[in-house]
Amino acid sequence: MDVLEAMRTRRSIRRFTEEPISRGELEKLFRAAMAAANSGGQQPWRFIVVDDPRLRDELASLEIERGPYYRSPQLIVVCGDIGSMKWKMHWLADCAAAIQNLLLAAHAYGLGAVWQELYPYHTRVAKVRELLGIPDTVYPMAVISIGHPAEKKPPVDRYDPEKVRWNHW
Ligand SMILES: Cc1cc2nc3c(=O)[nH]c(=O)nc-3n(C[C@H](O)[C@H](O)[C@H](O)COP(=O)(O)O)c2cc1C
Repeated sequence: MDVLEAMRTRRSIRRFTEEPISRGELEKLFRAAMAAANSGGQQPWRFIVVDDPRLRDELASLEIERGPYYRSPQLIVVCGDIGSMKWKMHWLADCAAAIQNLLLAAHAYGLGAVWQELYPYHTRVAKVRELLGIPDTVYPMAVISIGHPAEKKPPVDRYDPEKVRWNHW
C-alpha cells in the first residue's frame, strides 16, 4: 500500500484478535515511527511495548476518565524523554509525529491500532508512570492498542475546503 492510500484509508481500530504482532513486525513499525520529522533531530520518542499479560491487563483496566484502554495482545506506551532534550518544548509535537507514522505503517502492514491519550491527564500519567516504572524526566503521552484487526471500517473523507485559508485568515 502506498503512503497516500494508507493516509486515505486508515481508521482507528478498537477490536483485535488474540494473535500477537511478531518482533519483526514491531521493529518495522518502530522504524517507521522513528523516521518522523522531529525538532532539531532530538528524537525524544521512546516506546514501551507492554506484552507481559499481567501488566497489559492492569494497564488496559486502569480507571481513566474515558474508560479503559482497548485490549490488544500488545500495548505500546509512547513517551517523551524530556530530560534528554535541549529544546524541551518540542517533545509533544515530535512524539505526535512519530505516532502518526506508526499508525500509518500499522495500517499499511494490515494491522489495526488506536491512539489513546494520556497527555494532558496528569492522574493517568501518574498511574502509568507508577505501573511501568517510568522516571519523572520521561512523560508517557499516549497508549497505542495495536494488533491484528477484528473489525473493518470504511475510509472517511474529511476534506473540507472551508478549513483552508489563502493568504489571510
Ligand atoms: C490525540 C488523540 C487522542 C485520542 N484519544 C483517544 C482515546 O483516548 N480513546 C479512543 O478511543 N480514541 C482516541 N483517539 C482516536 C480518535 O478518537 C480518532 O482518531 C478519531 O475519532 C478519528 O477517527 P479515525 O482515527 O478512525 O479516523 C485519539 C486520537 C488522537 C489524535
